[in-house]
Amino acid sequence: ASSERRYDHEEYKETADWLLSRTDIRPKIAIICGSGLGGLANLLENKIALPYTSIPLFPHSTVQGHTGQLVFGELNGKQCVCMQGRFHFYEGYNMATVTYPIRVFHLMGVETLIVTNAAGGLNRSFKVGDIMVIKDHINMPGFAGQSPLCGHNDERFGVRFPCMSDAYDKNLTQLAREVAREQGCSSFIQEGVYCMVAGPCYETIAECKALLTLGADAVGMSTVPEVVVARHCGLSVLGLSLITNKAVMDYDSHEKANHEEVLETTRLRANDLQRLVSQLVTRL
Ligand code: 6GU
Repeated sequence: ASSERRYDHEEYKETADWLLSRTDIRPKIAIICGSGLGGLANLLENKIALPYTSIPLFPHSTVQGHTGQLVFGELNGKQCVCMQGRFHFYEGYNMATVTYPIRVFHLMGVETLIVTNAAGGLNRSFKVGDIMVIKDHINMPGFAGQSPLCGHNDERFGVRFPCMSDAYDKNLTQLAREVAREQGCSSFIQEGVYCMVAGPCYETIAECKALLTLGADAVGMSTVPEVVVARHCGLSVLGLSLITNKAVMDYDSHEKANHEEVLETTRLRANDLQRLVSQLVTRL
């Protein structure tokens, strides 16, 4: 891992300064749109979209159907920047690259990060289509030596040994529940622990059982690296998982985790989730 591509402060700064020169928007809020949830960016007003390929030093997306662009604009009058398309570890990016945008956002003055993702439901009381407010996470790649903070620590971003017991902001999770209630989403709002696995395989039955035993309520292949780097440099974080499918935990089941079901559920609930985030932003 120590021989992998890393970035220094000047590189993040170069990207941040370039972006600031391209727009008058000065976002305090960054939103990472998970797979199928990029529609949120379309709700922005006075927007300017910058393809990742046009941004100096910015990584590029490889996955089909993941648009890769930053969208700056106003969501109900609040200045935001949205990532339409994120970088996944399973695509072959290293953790420094996966989290590159977070430090750029920090250097641009962003103070709050809202992350969304699609996840498999481990908690047996969760239903497909539920939205889980992330209250904590389990960093499986981190356990295996894949933390974005491994290697030299640049103190300009944060401390060597950052605290993660307060990763998800209590005020923001509270606000998310409140807004959900006001929007009539109470019946499908959950709260729980998100477990990141590296992917790209969906979990075996034994792995699902193990993760459930470990205390995970949902499992996915993203989000945690970005959250770790965001907390390291002092951003407040809110995470929302759309439960797109139930993780298979029974040897007699004929169900199989598949990308089509994930996308189908996303289409079903994308509007609810986007409305929720949009209302949330207004109330920040
Ligand atoms: Cl079941 N597992 C993982 N790792 N990621 C997912 C998922 C399951 N469903 C959506 N994303």
